[in-house]
Amino acid sequence: MINRRQFLYLAGAGAANLLNMNGLPFPKTGIASSQKDDFFPDLELSLTARPSEVQIFPGQPTTVWQYKGQVIKGDPTSLMNPDQSYLGPIIRTRKNQKVRIHFNNDLPDRSIVHWHGLHVPAKMDGHPMYVIPTGDTFTYEFEVLNRAGTYWYHPHPHGRTGHQVYGGLAGLFLVSDDQEDELNLPDEKLDIPLVIQDRSFNSNNQLIYLPRGMRDSMTGMLGDTICVNGKPDFKLSVSTRAYRLRILNGSNSRIYKLAWSDGTPLTVIATDGGLLEKPVQKKYVVLGPAERIELWADFSKYPVGTSLELVSKYFEAAMQGSVMGPRRGMTGGDRLPDGSPFSVLKIDVVKKENETRLLPKKLSAIERYQPHDADNSDNPRRFSFFMRHMNGLINGRTFRMQEVADDERIRLNSTELWELANDDSSMGMMMMPMPHPVHLHGKQFQVVERSGALHSGYVDEGWKDTVLLMPGERAKIVANFSDYPGMFLYHCHNLEHEDMGMMRNYLVT
Ligand code: C2O
Ligand code: CU
Ligand code: CU
Repeated sequence: MINRRQFLYLAGAGAANLLNMNGLPFPKTGIASSQKDDFFPDLELSLTARPSEVQIFPGQPTTVWQYKGQVIKGDPTSLMNPDQSYLGPIIRTRKNQKVRIHFNNDLPDRSIVHWHGLHVPAKMDGHPMYVIPTGDTFTYEFEVLNRAGTYWYHPHPHGRTGHQVYGGLAGLFLVSDDQEDELNLPDEKLDIPLVIQDRSFNSNNQLIYLPRGMRDSMTGMLGDTICVNGKPDFKLSVSTRAYRLRILNGSNSRIYKLAWSDGTPLTVIATDGGLLEKPVQKKYVVLGPAERIELWADFSKYPVGTSLELVSKYFEAAMQGSVMGPRRGMTGGDRLPDGSPFSVLKIDVVKKENETRLLPKKLSAIERYQPHDADNSDNPRRFSFFMRHMNGLINGRTFRMQEVADDERIRLNSTELWELANDDSSMGMMMMPMPHPVHLHGKQFQVVERSGALHSGYVDEGWKDTVLLMPGERAKIVANFSDYPGMFLYHCHNLEHEDMGMMRNYLVT
Protein backbone atom coordinates (compact mmCIF):
# COMPACT_ATOMS: atom_id res chain seq x y z
CA MET A 1 0.00 0.00 0.00
CA ILE A 2 1.48 3.30 -1.01
CA ASN A 3 -0.17 6.36 0.44
CA ARG A 4 0.18 9.82 -0.99
CA ARG A 5 2.81 11.01 1.47
CA GLN A 6 5.16 8.14 0.74
CA PHE A 7 4.55 8.64 -2.90
CA LEU A 8 5.92 12.16 -2.71
CA TYR A 9 9.39 10.89 -1.80
CA LEU A 10 9.18 8.12 -4.43
CA ALA A 11 8.07 10.52 -7.14
CA GLY A 12 10.92 12.74 -6.08
CA ALA A 13 13.42 10.05 -6.92
CA GLY A 14 12.15 9.85 -10.47
CA ALA A 15 12.20 13.57 -10.97
CA ALA A 16 15.66 13.67 -9.49
CA ASN A 17 17.15 11.67 -12.31
CA LEU A 18 16.30 14.53 -14.58
CA LEU A 19 17.23 17.31 -12.22
CA ASN A 20 20.04 15.98 -10.15
CA MET A 21 23.38 17.02 -11.52
CA ASN A 22 25.28 15.25 -8.78
CA GLY A 23 25.57 18.28 -6.59
CA LEU A 24 27.29 20.80 -8.78
CA PRO A 25 29.99 22.39 -6.68
CA PHE A 26 29.44 25.84 -8.10
CA PRO A 27 26.34 28.01 -8.16
CA LYS A 28 24.25 27.61 -11.25
CA THR A 29 22.55 30.95 -10.97
CA GLY A 30 22.97 34.03 -8.89
CA ILE A 31 19.28 34.15 -8.10
CA ALA A 32 18.48 35.41 -4.63
CA SER A 33 22.18 35.57 -4.00
CA SER A 34 23.57 38.40 -2.00
CA GLN A 35 27.15 37.65 -2.96
CA LYS A 36 29.12 40.79 -2.31
CA ASP A 37 32.48 41.75 -3.75
CA ASP A 38 33.85 42.76 -0.37
CA PHE A 39 33.06 39.49 1.39
CA PHE A 40 36.10 37.21 1.53
CA PRO A 41 35.08 33.87 2.96
CA ASP A 42 37.42 31.72 5.06
CA LEU A 43 35.24 28.80 4.15
CA GLU A 44 33.16 28.26 1.04
CA LEU A 45 30.84 25.29 0.73
CA SER A 46 28.20 23.91 -1.55
CA LEU A 47 25.17 22.18 -0.09
CA THR A 48 22.82 20.37 -2.43
CA ALA A 49 19.42 19.00 -1.42
CA ARG A 50 18.22 16.14 -3.57
CA PRO A 51 16.42 12.80 -3.50
CA SER A 52 18.71 9.93 -2.69
CA GLU A 53 18.70 6.35 -1.42
CA VAL A 54 20.23 4.95 1.75
CA GLN A 55 20.55 1.43 3.06
CA ILE A 56 18.82 1.65 6.44
CA PHE A 57 17.51 -1.92 6.55
CA PRO A 58 18.54 -5.10 4.73
CA GLY A 59 16.79 -5.40 1.38
CA GLN A 60 15.24 -2.45 -0.36
CA PRO A 61 17.02 0.89 0.17
CA THR A 62 15.01 3.77 1.59
CA THR A 63 14.28 6.77 -0.61
CA VAL A 64 15.12 9.94 1.28
CA TRP A 65 15.74 13.61 0.69
CA GLN A 66 19.28 14.50 1.60
CA TYR A 67 21.83 17.30 1.82
CA LYS A 68 25.20 16.54 0.26
CA GLY A 69 28.04 18.97 0.76
CA GLN A 70 31.43 19.85 -0.65
CA VAL A 71 34.22 22.17 0.42
CA ILE A 72 35.00 24.63 -2.35
CA LYS A 73 37.52 26.68 -0.43
CA GLY A 74 39.03 26.33 3.04
CA ASP A 75 39.82 23.50 5.44
CA PRO A 76 38.69 20.22 3.83
CA THR A 77 37.88 18.76 7.26
CA SER A 78 35.24 21.41 7.89
CA LEU A 79 32.63 19.27 6.19
CA MET A 80 31.92 15.58 6.60
CA ASN A 81 29.22 13.70 4.69
CA PRO A 82 28.07 10.86 6.95
CA ASP A 83 28.20 7.30 5.76
CA GLN A 84 24.98 5.38 5.09
CA SER A 85 22.76 7.93 6.73
CA TYR A 86 20.13 10.27 5.40
CA LEU A 87 21.53 13.11 7.51
CA GLY A 88 23.30 16.01 5.85
CA PRO A 89 27.01 16.74 6.30
CA ILE A 90 28.38 17.88 9.64
CA ILE A 91 29.71 21.39 9.11
CA ARG A 92 32.50 22.51 11.46
CA THR A 93 33.37 26.17 11.79
CA ARG A 94 35.16 28.44 14.21
CA LYS A 95 33.84 31.60 15.76
CA ASN A 96 34.54 34.67 13.60
CA GLN A 97 35.01 32.61 10.45
CA LYS A 98 33.35 34.03 7.38
CA VAL A 99 31.40 31.40 5.51
CA ARG A 100 29.80 31.35 2.09
CA ILE A 101 27.41 28.50 1.35
CA HIS A 102 25.82 27.85 -2.03
CA PHE A 103 22.57 26.03 -1.47
CA ASN A 104 21.44 24.15 -4.60
CA ASN A 105 17.85 22.99 -4.65
CA ASP A 106 17.64 19.75 -6.63
CA LEU A 107 14.46 18.65 -4.88
CA PRO A 108 11.18 18.37 -6.79
CA ASP A 109 9.88 21.01 -4.34
CA ARG A 110 10.65 24.57 -3.26
CA SER A 111 13.06 24.95 -0.34
CA ILE A 112 15.40 27.18 1.65
CA VAL A 113 17.91 26.48 4.44
CA HIS A 114 17.69 27.85 7.98
CA TRP A 115 20.72 27.88 10.32
CA HIS A 116 19.07 26.99 13.58
CA GLY A 117 20.55 28.83 16.56
CA LEU A 118 22.93 31.00 14.57
CA HIS A 119 22.93 34.76 14.91
CA VAL A 120 22.93 35.86 11.26
CA PRO A 121 21.49 38.75 9.21
CA ALA A 122 17.76 38.48 8.41
CA LYS A 123 18.39 37.76 4.74
CA MET A 124 20.71 34.88 5.63
CA ASP A 125 18.34 33.23 8.09
CA GLY A 126 16.29 31.12 5.68
CA HIS A 127 12.96 32.91 6.08
CA PRO A 128 10.35 31.12 3.91
CA MET A 129 9.92 34.26 1.80
CA TYR A 130 13.32 33.42 0.31
CA VAL A 131 12.36 29.93 -0.92
CA ILE A 132 13.88 28.95 -4.24
CA PRO A 133 12.34 26.63 -6.83
CA THR A 134 13.83 23.42 -8.19
CA GLY A 135 17.13 23.99 -9.94
CA ASP A 136 17.97 27.33 -8.32
CA THR A 137 20.75 28.35 -5.97
CA PHE A 138 20.70 30.62 -2.93
CA THR A 139 24.04 31.87 -1.70
CA TYR A 140 24.49 32.54 2.01
CA GLU A 141 27.21 34.74 3.41
CA PHE A 142 27.68 35.36 7.09
CA GLU A 143 30.24 35.58 9.83
CA VAL A 144 29.92 33.00 12.58
CA LEU A 145 29.31 35.16 15.65
CA ASN A 146 28.01 32.42 17.93
CA ARG A 147 30.09 30.97 20.72
CA ALA A 148 31.22 27.36 20.51
CA GLY A 149 28.27 25.02 20.45
CA THR A 150 26.08 22.50 18.68
CA TYR A 151 23.84 24.20 16.15
CA TRP A 152 22.04 22.69 13.17
CA TYR A 153 20.43 23.42 9.82
CA HIS A 154 17.23 22.32 8.13
CA PRO A 155 14.73 23.44 5.46
CA HIS A 156 12.17 26.17 6.15
CA PRO A 157 9.68 26.46 3.25
CA HIS A 158 6.34 27.37 4.77
CA GLY A 159 3.92 24.46 4.94
CA ARG A 160 6.58 22.01 3.77
CA THR A 161 9.14 22.04 6.60
CA GLY A 162 7.76 18.97 8.41
CA HIS A 163 7.68 16.91 5.24
CA GLN A 164 11.19 17.90 4.15
CA VAL A 165 12.88 17.42 7.52
CA TYR A 166 11.13 14.07 7.94
CA GLY A 167 12.39 13.02 4.51
CA GLY A 168 15.93 13.42 5.82
CA LEU A 169 16.92 17.06 5.36
CA ALA A 170 18.86 18.14 8.45
CA GLY A 171 22.47 18.39 9.54
CA LEU A 172 24.69 19.62 12.35
CA PHE A 173 26.56 22.93 12.33
CA LEU A 174 29.26 22.83 15.00
CA VAL A 175 31.11 25.91 16.17
CA SER A 176 34.34 25.89 18.15
CA ASP A 177 36.26 28.80 19.66
CA ASP A 178 39.44 29.62 21.60
CA GLN A 179 37.78 29.53 25.02
CA GLU A 180 36.44 26.07 24.40
CA ASP A 181 39.87 24.89 23.19
CA GLU A 182 41.40 25.85 26.53
CA LEU A 183 39.18 23.36 28.35
CA ASN A 184 40.69 20.42 26.51
CA LEU A 185 37.33 18.66 26.30
CA PRO A 186 37.16 15.17 24.76
CA ASP A 187 37.76 15.67 21.05
CA GLU A 188 38.01 13.81 17.75
CA LYS A 189 36.86 10.21 18.31
CA LEU A 190 35.74 11.13 21.83
CA ASP A 191 33.46 13.93 20.57
CA ILE A 192 30.33 12.21 19.28
CA PRO A 193 27.31 13.90 17.72
CA LEU A 194 24.04 12.03 18.25
CA VAL A 195 20.99 13.16 16.30
CA ILE A 196 17.86 11.52 17.71
CA GLN A 197 14.82 11.24 15.42
CA ASP A 198 11.74 9.03 15.17
CA ARG A 199 10.54 7.64 11.86
CA SER A 200 7.94 5.15 10.60
CA PHE A 201 8.72 2.77 7.75
CA ASN A 202 6.44 0.55 5.69
CA SER A 203 7.15 -3.07 4.80
CA ASN A 204 9.16 -1.90 1.76
CA ASN A 205 11.45 0.13 4.03
CA GLN A 206 9.96 3.43 2.82
CA LEU A 207 9.20 6.39 5.04
CA ILE A 208 5.60 6.97 6.06
CA TYR A 209 4.60 10.55 6.86
CA LEU A 210 1.30 11.52 8.51
CA PRO A 211 -0.51 8.27 7.64
CA ARG A 212 -3.67 9.55 9.31
CA GLY A 213 -3.53 12.99 7.77
CA MET A 214 -4.89 15.81 9.88
CA ARG A 215 -5.09 13.66 12.99
CA ASP A 216 -1.32 13.19 12.89
CA SER A 217 -0.74 16.84 12.02
CA MET A 218 -2.58 17.96 15.13
CA THR A 219 -0.31 15.99 17.44
CA GLY A 220 2.71 16.20 15.19
CA MET A 221 4.28 13.24 13.39
CA LEU A 222 5.35 10.52 15.83
CA GLY A 223 7.29 7.62 14.35
CA ASP A 224 7.57 4.20 15.97
CA THR A 225 11.26 3.63 15.12
CA ILE A 226 13.91 5.58 17.00
CA CYS A 227 16.88 6.47 14.79
CA VAL A 228 20.20 7.87 15.97
CA ASN A 229 22.33 9.47 13.26
CA GLY A 230 19.87 8.00 10.78
CA LYS A 231 20.13 4.42 12.05
CA PRO A 232 17.67 2.33 14.06
CA ASP A 233 19.08 0.15 16.91
CA PHE A 234 22.07 2.45 17.22
CA LYS A 235 25.09 1.08 19.09
CA LEU A 236 28.15 2.86 20.31
CA SER A 237 31.34 1.03 21.28
CA VAL A 238 33.37 2.98 23.80
CA SER A 239 36.54 2.64 25.82
CA THR A 240 36.85 3.40 29.52
CA ARG A 241 37.26 7.11 28.98
CA ALA A 242 35.29 10.34 29.09
CA TYR A 243 33.30 11.31 26.00
CA ARG A 244 31.57 14.44 24.85
CA LEU A 245 28.14 13.50 23.53
CA ARG A 246 26.41 16.22 21.53
CA ILE A 247 22.72 15.37 21.45
CA LEU A 248 20.21 17.00 19.12
CA ASN A 249 16.53 16.17 19.25
CA GLY A 250 16.00 16.37 15.49
CA SER A 251 12.51 14.89 15.65
CA ASN A 252 9.50 16.59 14.13
CA SER A 253 7.46 16.41 17.31
CA ARG A 254 8.69 13.76 19.76
CA ILE A 255 9.89 14.72 23.23
CA TYR A 256 12.54 12.63 24.99
CA LYS A 257 13.04 12.21 28.73
CA LEU A 258 16.66 11.08 28.59
CA ALA A 259 18.42 9.10 31.31
CA TRP A 260 21.13 6.45 31.74
CA SER A 261 19.67 2.99 32.18
CA ASP A 262 21.73 2.27 35.32
CA GLY A 263 20.49 5.36 37.13
CA THR A 264 23.77 7.29 36.89
CA PRO A 265 22.87 10.97 36.65
CA LEU A 266 23.46 12.77 33.35
CA THR A 267 26.30 15.28 33.47
CA VAL A 268 25.20 18.17 31.25
CA ILE A 269 27.89 20.54 30.02
CA ALA A 270 26.08 22.50 27.29
CA THR A 271 22.67 23.54 25.99
CA ASP A 272 21.41 25.02 22.68
CA GLY A 273 23.81 27.97 22.78
CA GLY A 274 26.95 26.22 24.00
CA LEU A 275 28.75 25.48 27.24
CA LEU A 276 27.17 26.06 30.63
CA GLU A 277 29.05 27.95 33.34
CA LYS A 278 29.60 24.70 35.16
CA PRO A 279 28.45 21.10 34.73
CA VAL A 280 24.94 20.27 35.94
CA GLN A 281 23.87 16.83 37.21
CA LYS A 282 20.39 15.64 36.23
CA LYS A 283 18.47 12.44 36.98
CA TYR A 284 16.89 12.96 33.57
CA VAL A 285 16.75 15.65 30.90
CA VAL A 286 13.58 16.48 28.98
CA LEU A 287 14.51 17.45 25.43
CA GLY A 288 11.90 18.92 23.08
CA PRO A 289 12.21 19.08 19.28
CA ALA A 290 15.21 21.18 18.14
CA GLU A 291 16.77 21.37 21.60
CA ARG A 292 20.35 20.26 22.18
CA ILE A 293 22.32 19.14 25.22
CA GLU A 294 25.90 18.05 25.51
CA LEU A 295 26.89 15.39 28.02
CA TRP A 296 30.15 14.56 29.70
CA ALA A 297 29.91 10.76 29.67
CA ASP A 298 32.67 9.11 31.68
CA PHE A 299 32.80 5.35 31.15
CA SER A 300 36.00 4.86 33.18
CA LYS A 301 34.09 3.42 36.12
CA TYR A 302 32.66 0.54 34.04
CA PRO A 303 34.43 -2.76 33.51
CA VAL A 304 35.02 -3.83 29.91
CA GLY A 305 32.02 -5.89 28.80
CA THR A 306 29.44 -3.58 30.39
CA SER A 307 26.40 -2.69 28.32
CA LEU A 308 24.31 0.30 29.11
CA GLU A 309 21.58 2.29 27.45
CA LEU A 310 20.55 5.84 26.99
CA VAL A 311 16.79 5.57 27.47
CA SER A 312 13.75 7.78 27.22
CA LYS A 313 11.60 7.37 30.31
CA TYR A 314 7.84 7.41 30.66
CA PHE A 315 6.17 10.79 31.10
CA GLU A 316 2.61 12.03 31.05
CA ALA A 317 2.35 13.70 27.68
CA ALA A 318 -1.02 15.30 28.20
CA MET A 319 -2.55 17.20 31.06
CA GLN A 320 -5.00 15.23 33.13
CA GLY A 321 -8.63 16.14 32.75
CA SER A 322 -8.74 17.04 29.08
CA VAL A 323 -12.02 16.15 27.42
CA MET A 324 -10.44 13.61 25.08
CA GLY A 325 -8.25 12.10 27.78
CA PRO A 326 -4.51 11.85 27.48
CA ARG A 327 -2.69 11.75 24.14
CA ARG A 328 -2.15 8.05 24.62
CA GLY A 329 -3.65 6.02 21.81
CA MET A 330 -4.08 9.06 19.61
CA THR A 331 -0.57 9.25 18.27
CA GLY A 332 2.43 7.33 17.02
CA GLY A 333 0.29 4.94 15.01
CA ASP A 334 -0.84 3.71 18.46
CA ARG A 335 2.49 1.92 18.67
CA LEU A 336 4.74 4.46 20.33
CA PRO A 337 2.67 7.30 21.77
CA ASP A 338 4.38 10.39 23.11
CA GLY A 339 5.69 9.72 26.60
CA SER A 340 6.25 5.98 26.06
CA PRO A 341 9.43 4.51 27.51
CA PHE A 342 12.01 3.09 25.09
CA SER A 343 15.72 2.64 24.49
CA VAL A 344 17.41 5.38 22.44
CA LEU A 345 20.82 3.81 21.97
CA LYS A 346 23.03 1.08 23.36
CA ILE A 347 26.57 1.55 24.63
CA ASP A 348 29.09 -1.29 24.87
CA VAL A 349 32.24 -0.72 26.88
CA VAL A 350 34.75 -2.68 24.80
CA LYS A 351 38.22 -1.42 25.60
CA LYS A 352 40.36 -0.50 28.58
CA GLU A 353 42.14 2.83 28.25
CA ASN A 354 43.41 5.20 30.88
CA GLU A 355 41.42 8.34 31.35
CA THR A 356 43.55 11.42 31.64
CA ARG A 357 40.90 14.10 31.47
CA LEU A 358 38.99 15.54 34.39
CA LEU A 359 35.63 17.20 34.12
CA PRO A 360 36.36 20.94 34.31
CA LYS A 361 34.71 22.63 37.31
CA LYS A 362 34.19 25.79 35.32
CA LEU A 363 33.22 25.57 31.67
CA SER A 364 32.57 29.12 30.56
CA ALA A 365 31.53 32.57 31.70
CA ILE A 366 27.87 33.39 31.25
CA GLU A 367 26.48 36.70 32.31
CA ARG A 368 23.15 35.76 33.79
CA TYR A 369 20.20 37.97 32.92
CA GLN A 370 17.64 38.93 35.51
CA PRO A 371 14.10 40.01 34.58
CA HIS A 372 14.97 43.56 35.67
CA ASP A 373 17.78 43.70 33.07
CA ALA A 374 15.10 44.01 30.39
CA ASP A 375 14.02 47.40 29.05
CA ASN A 376 10.40 46.27 29.41
CA SER A 377 10.80 44.47 32.74
CA ASP A 378 7.56 45.95 34.14
CA ASN A 379 5.63 45.23 30.96
CA PRO A 380 6.76 41.93 29.41
CA ARG A 381 5.56 40.94 25.95
CA ARG A 382 3.20 38.00 26.22
CA PHE A 383 2.86 35.35 23.55
CA SER A 384 0.25 32.67 23.96
CA PHE A 385 0.50 29.46 21.92
CA PHE A 386 -2.49 27.23 21.20
CA MET A 387 -4.27 25.29 18.45
CA ARG A 388 -7.80 26.09 17.41
CA HIS A 389 -9.92 24.92 14.48
CA MET A 390 -6.94 23.11 12.89
CA ASN A 391 -4.87 26.28 13.02
CA GLY A 392 -1.71 26.89 14.95
CA LEU A 393 -2.03 30.26 16.65
CA ILE A 394 0.18 32.69 18.53
CA ASN A 395 -1.80 35.37 20.37
CA GLY A 396 -4.72 34.22 18.23
CA ARG A 397 -2.94 34.86 14.93
CA THR A 398 -1.68 32.41 12.37
CA PHE A 399 1.34 32.82 10.06
CA ARG A 400 1.25 35.32 7.20
CA MET A 401 4.41 35.59 5.16
CA GLN A 402 5.00 39.34 5.51
CA GLU A 403 2.74 40.21 8.43
CA VAL A 404 4.02 41.84 11.61
CA ALA A 405 1.58 42.93 14.34
CA ASP A 406 2.17 45.88 16.67
CA ASP A 407 3.25 43.65 19.53
CA GLU A 408 5.83 42.01 17.25
CA ARG A 409 7.88 45.17 16.61
CA ILE A 410 11.15 45.41 18.50
CA ARG A 411 13.71 48.15 18.80
CA LEU A 412 17.23 47.28 17.63
CA ASN A 413 19.66 46.83 20.55
CA SER A 414 16.92 46.51 23.14
CA THR A 415 16.89 43.84 25.83
CA GLU A 416 13.46 42.34 26.27
CA LEU A 417 11.48 40.21 28.65
CA TRP A 418 9.00 37.86 26.94
CA GLU A 419 6.48 35.63 28.59
CA LEU A 420 5.77 32.53 26.51
CA ALA A 421 2.69 30.54 27.48
CA ASN A 422 1.35 27.22 26.32
CA ASP A 423 -2.36 27.92 26.68
CA ASP A 424 -3.56 24.71 25.07
CA SER A 425 -4.79 23.34 28.38
CA SER A 426 -7.23 26.18 28.83
CA MET A 427 -8.79 25.57 25.43
CA GLY A 428 -10.53 22.43 26.73
CA MET A 429 -13.33 21.71 24.31
CA MET A 430 -12.74 18.88 21.83
CA MET A 431 -9.01 19.44 21.81
CA MET A 432 -6.19 17.60 23.44
CA PRO A 433 -3.70 19.93 25.00
CA MET A 434 -0.30 19.61 23.35
CA PRO A 435 3.30 20.49 24.15
CA HIS A 436 4.76 23.44 22.23
CA PRO A 437 8.55 23.81 21.94
CA VAL A 438 8.91 27.54 21.28
CA HIS A 439 11.84 28.72 19.18
CA LEU A 440 13.18 32.18 18.30
CA HIS A 441 15.24 32.68 15.16
CA GLY A 442 18.48 34.59 15.16
CA LYS A 443 18.91 34.73 18.95
CA GLN A 444 20.13 32.89 21.95
CA PHE A 445 18.14 33.82 25.05
CA GLN A 446 18.02 32.94 28.73
CA VAL A 447 15.12 31.43 30.64
CA VAL A 448 14.69 33.56 33.77
CA GLU A 449 11.51 32.05 35.17
CA ARG A 450 9.47 28.94 34.54
CA SER A 451 6.45 27.04 35.78
CA GLY A 452 5.64 23.43 35.09
CA ALA A 453 5.57 19.77 35.95
CA LEU A 454 8.66 18.48 34.17
CA HIS A 455 10.64 21.31 35.73
CA SER A 456 13.42 19.15 37.13
CA GLY A 457 14.20 17.80 33.66
CA TYR A 458 14.82 21.15 32.01
CA VAL A 459 18.30 22.60 31.71
CA ASP A 460 17.68 26.33 31.88
CA GLU A 461 21.12 27.30 33.17
CA GLY A 462 22.62 28.25 29.81
CA TRP A 463 21.90 29.90 26.47
CA LYS A 464 18.79 28.61 24.72
CA ASP A 465 17.05 29.11 21.39
CA THR A 466 14.18 26.70 22.01
CA VAL A 467 12.17 26.27 25.18
CA LEU A 468 9.76 23.38 25.71
CA LEU A 469 6.38 24.28 27.15
CA MET A 470 4.13 21.42 28.19
CA PRO A 471 0.38 22.16 28.29
CA GLY A 472 -0.29 24.93 30.79
CA GLU A 473 3.40 25.75 31.26
CA ARG A 474 4.92 29.18 30.83
CA ALA A 475 8.43 30.57 30.75
CA LYS A 476 9.89 34.05 30.93
CA ILE A 477 12.89 34.66 28.71
CA VAL A 478 15.28 37.56 28.27
CA ALA A 479 16.84 38.26 24.87
CA ASN A 480 18.96 41.03 23.45
CA PHE A 481 18.09 42.14 19.92
CA SER A 482 21.43 43.44 18.75
CA ASP A 483 23.35 43.60 15.47
CA TYR A 484 20.77 42.67 12.89
CA PRO A 485 17.62 44.57 11.99
CA GLY A 486 14.96 42.89 9.89
CA MET A 487 12.30 40.24 10.01
CA PHE A 488 12.85 37.01 11.91
CA LEU A 489 10.58 34.13 12.84
CA TYR A 490 9.44 32.75 16.13
CA HIS A 491 7.41 29.57 16.17
CA CYS A 492 6.48 26.25 17.67
CA HIS A 493 9.17 23.73 16.66
CA ASN A 494 6.70 20.87 16.51
CA LEU A 495 7.15 20.98 12.74
CA GLU A 496 3.56 20.00 11.98
CA HIS A 497 2.31 22.79 14.25
CA GLU A 498 4.71 25.18 12.51
CA ASP A 499 3.40 24.11 9.11
CA MET A 500 -0.14 24.63 10.41
CA GLY A 501 0.71 28.24 11.09
CA MET A 502 1.99 28.34 14.67
CA MET A 503 4.66 30.74 13.51
CA ARG A 504 4.92 34.52 13.29
CA ASN A 505 7.39 37.24 12.32
CA TYR A 506 9.03 39.67 14.68
CA LEU A 507 10.54 42.79 13.20
CA VAL A 508 13.64 44.48 14.56
CA THR A 509 14.09 48.12 13.52
CU1 C2O B 1 14.82 25.08 13.59
CU2 C2O B 1 12.47 28.05 12.34
O1 C2O B 1 13.67 26.56 13.04
CU1 CU C 1 15.73 28.51 14.03
CU1 CU D 1 3.18 23.25 18.97
